[in-house]
Amino acid sequence: VVSQTNLHWGGAAKSIAEKPRGINSNKGKFGHVLLVGGSYGTSGAPSMASLAALRAGAGLVTAAVPHCIVEAVGRITPELMVRGLKQAPAPRSGEDWGVASPLNLANECLEELMKGIKVLAIGPGLSQKPGAPEFARGMVRKTSVPVVIDADALNAFAGETELLKAAAAEGRPVVLTPHPGEMGRLAGLTVPEVEADRIGLARRFATEHGVTLVLKGWRTLIAHPDGRIAVNTTGNPAMAKGGSGDILTGIVAAMVAQFPDRVAEAVEAAVYLHGLAGDFAAQAMDEHTVLATDTLAHLSDAFRYRV
Ligand code: APR
Ligand code: MG
Repeated sequence: VVSQTNLHWGGAAKSIAEKPRGINSNKGKFGHVLLVGGSYGTSGAPSMASLAALRAGAGLVTAAVPHCIVEAVGRITPELMVRGLKQAPAPRSGEDWGVASPLNLANECLEELMKGIKVLAIGPGLSQKPGAPEFARGMVRKTSVPVVIDADALNAFAGETELLKAAAAEGRPVVLTPHPGEMGRLAGLTVPEVEADRIGLARRFATEHGVTLVLKGWRTLIAHPDGRIAVNTTGNPAMAKGGSGDILTGIVAAMVAQFPDRVAEAVEAAVYLHGLAGDFAAQAMDEHTVLATDTLAHLSDAFRYRV
């Protein structure tokens, strides 16, 4: 059953989802998303996030992933552009684990990577191996565009949330998409503590850091930097499977790229559409069998849905 739609967002977010693309528009108008993540063995996460960003309407999407998975990620769809990141050697053995290195933060590398980019989305599949967290923190600090931070890039800020505050203080949107485990690591709490007061915690974290916080799970919350809270009513247990979060990251990034001046509504629309696509997938299939990529295959149904 398709769940009831939005509760608290006053229809503004929905108007974003329904907005026609404009007869005379071109890809430049819809933004270029850079998706950074992946490591050896986790090429699926950045692949799915990139594909989701393309499906959700971004004008262009580039995935930047460690060299060893460039070909794997590129195979997800030919519309995707892929760039290789330098890989970090393990500290003592020098072994190459296939994770992104802080060497990619060198000014000329970064300049090359960020050319023409409207939104940076970072984290899916990134790993927490040495080098990767430092690389993620450096990317968020050094870029000047809006950022969407997920998964292991969130873990990179555990105990260092002042850096998130500093990024948001520059006036650019900072969007975080933690599940309760990642939220707990960020806030220094256990998962039961997070779940005991989702709204209070999300609101406090968002206002104190000046970020947009998407606290995922059943009834995902969106806490805005001004203290407003939206509760999403779409989504279902078919989405409790690896990859669902990566798809959301791509959709959020694409919506922010298309509506950089309406970030609050863009993020709410992304969360709503993601859950609704999952609802359509569960209806067409079965909640046991739906994969994250099946949810993405039903994103068109979500965009076309009219209450
Ligand atoms: N009802 C509604 N939505 C749900 C439900 C549910 N019962 N269960 C899950 N979802 C949605 C969440 O709201 C969220 O949008 O599915 C998505 C799950 O996202 P994540 O928990 O981030 O899962 P995902 O990233 O796909 O896979 C787990 O995340 O933290 C990393 O390294 C970790 O590999 C792991 C990966
Ligand atoms: Mg996740």
